[in-house]
Amino acid sequence: RPQVTIPELNRLRKNDIPISMITAHDYVSGLMADQAGVDMILVGDSLAMVALGYANTNEIEFDEMIYHAKAVSRGVKSAFIIADLPFGTYEISPEQAVESAIQMIRRGKSQAIKIEGGQELVPTIKKLTSFGIPVMGHIGLTPQRQSSFGGFKVQGKTAKSAESILDDALALQEAGCFAILLEAVPDKVGQIITDVLDVPVIGIGAGPYTSGQVLVQLDMLGGFGTFSPKFLKKYSNYLEDNITAIKRYSEEVKDRSFPAKEHCYSIKAEELDKFKN
Ligand code: KIV
Ligand code: NA
Repeated sequence: RPQVTIPELNRLRKNDIPISMITAHDYVSGLMADQAGVDMILVGDSLAMVALGYANTNEIEFDEMIYHAKAVSRGVKSAFIIADLPFGTYEISPEQAVESAIQMIRRGKSQAIKIEGGQELVPTIKKLTSFGIPVMGHIGLTPQRQSSFGGFKVQGKTAKSAESILDDALALQEAGCFAILLEAVPDKVGQIITDVLDVPVIGIGAGPYTSGQVLVQLDMLGGFGTFSPKFLKKYSNYLEDNITAIKRYSEEVKDRSFPAKEHCYSIKAEELDKFKN
C-alpha cells in the first residue's frame, strides 16, 4: 500500500469512506497496526498509562515520547503517523510549540503532531502550520486537562458546552489544522461538528457519524487492566490470554515438560563421545 498522505485522508472524507486510526507505542504495535492496514497511527500520550504504567498522561517526559515515537516509526511503512506533544511542551508559547514539534518530527520521525485545546491554541497552530508542520487538534474531552474537568467526563452534554466545542473546532480548522480529534461527546454532537467542518473529524467516544474512529491499541486489545469506558470495544483479551500463556510456560518449566525433544539441538554420537573423554 502506498504511503497515506493528507490529500488521501481528505479524499476518504470527501467520499464518505471512514478513516481508521489506532494508537501505537512501540515497534511491534506500530508494525501490527500498519500491517493491519489502518490509515493513521497515533503515538498518543496515553502510552504513558497503558505502556509505561504512569498514573496519568501528564507525567511522561518529552524525551520518552520521542523515544516511543521513533520506535513506532521503525515498524510503519504506509500509515500516516501523528504524535502527541505531551503536557508542558507546547502551552507556553508558539515558539515552544514549534521547537517541540520540530523535535518530534526530526527525532521522533512523526509526520504530524497533535495538541489538546481550542481557541487558545490558534496563534500556536498558525505558527506551526506556517512552517509546514501538519497539526491535528484535539477537543471535547482533553485528558491533559482532566483535573479541571474532575476526571474523564463526557463533554458537550449541554447546548452551551456543545456550542463551545463547535466554536473550538471551527477556530482550529480556521487556524490550519488538517484534522481534528473529537473525544467523548454525544453522538449527535459529533455528527453536527463533523457536518459543519471541512476537515476530517476523527472520533473516540464521539459516535458513528465522524469521518473516522480512533482507539487506544492496548485498550481495544484488552491490554490495559480494568479500563473500560462506554465507547471502548475490546477486540482481544491481550492481558488474560498472555498471562495464561506465561503461566503455562512457568508450569511446564516446573514440571519439566518444557523444553521437549523438538526444542533441543543435537550432537553426533561420536562428537559426544570425544567430548566426554
Ligand atoms: O493519547 C491518546 O491515545 C489519545 C486518544 C484520544 C486516542 O490522544
Ligand atoms: Na493523547
